[in-house]
Amino acid sequence: MKNLIFSGMQPTGALHLGNYLGALKQWVDLQDEHNCIFCIVDYHAMTIDYNPKKMPERITELALDYLAAGLDPEKSIIFIQSHVPEHTELAWIFNTITPLGELERMTQFKEKSAQHRKNVNAGLFTYPILQAADILLYKADRVPVGEDQVQHVEMTRDIAKKFNKKFNKTFPEPKPILTEAARIMSPTDPTKKMSKSLGDKHYIALTDSADVIRKKIRSAVTDTSQGADSPGVKNLFAILEAFDEDAAKGFKMEHKSGSLKYSDLKDVVANTIIGHLAPFQERRRELEAEKERVAEILINGADQAQKIAQKTMQEVRKKIGVR
Ligand code: TYM
Repeated sequence: MKNLIFSGMQPTGALHLGNYLGALKQWVDLQDEHNCIFCIVDYHAMTIDYNPKKMPERITELALDYLAAGLDPEKSIIFIQSHVPEHTELAWIFNTITPLGELERMTQFKEKSAQHRKNVNAGLFTYPILQAADILLYKADRVPVGEDQVQHVEMTRDIAKKFNKKFNKTFPEPKPILTEAARIMSPTDPTKKMSKSLGDKHYIALTDSADVIRKKIRSAVTDTSQGADSPGVKNLFAILEAFDEDAAKGFKMEHKSGSLKYSDLKDVVANTIIGHLAPFQERRRELEAEKERVAEILINGADQAQKIAQKTMQEVRKKIGVR
């Protein structure tokens, strides 16, 4: 059965291996079987301090990442959230049916408000409502994301249910799609998820050079005192498995029998990452010379997205009694 897939990422700088293995890699595969819409969520990226002068560049960078990874505008709709103002319109309507208590439970809000103490704004709090609007505006029923976004997708489902109950059936109840690598950890502190906000040593960027990748993986923490449950070793296995299942199987067997050398595992993990990122980095360099074409792709994508969005909004306005 064909699903309607929606997902998005924030234009907040270089993508890392977690973004790729948890989300982007599966987006590329999903495009062949399903109707897919992929968004660059710039309004979400405004909820933390940012430099407005750098925003256009960050949006373009993310578009380059999407396309270099293999998102194909012939197969999927690719666009920028702020180009389709219906997103914020629907978010307002959802604001009026979302209980504060549910927003207060959101782990990401708790983490981010602790991280950005000086800028705990209302947008950071209502962030998941805009995310629900992103998804439901297109009546998407599947959302491919990493594990940290599951709570937001569940909230989207609750909002859909609530709207349907109050104003009659309008929206599907979307579910997340997770990969085996839905939670890639920091190589330096494998008890924390890979994330840019922790600092340079805590993530492997898709644009990192071979040398940098080797260095980061070689110094990855593999605390052996916890045996097979060492989070660092588990993380290396998860990364290897996502790229090369057979290689991971072999090492896992060695690990079980106690003959695994971590330096060997690290060499193979580093080489595997480098080998898989090389074609991505090459395509990305080529696309950099075609920024005008990339801008065109995003404008076309917004046109296609807005047609669907307008239809949903017509229906929604009628149902809530404003038109
Ligand atoms: P964002 O931009 O933080 O992250 C983009 C995607 O990468 C996944 N991810 C990870 N997966 C595995 N391991 C990790 N260490 C890791 N870190 C990040 C995230 O789960 C995500 O799938 N709120 C969203 C953006 C958004 C969205 C949406 C997503 C806005 N509207 C509608 C889906 C549908 C976010 O902040 O993702």
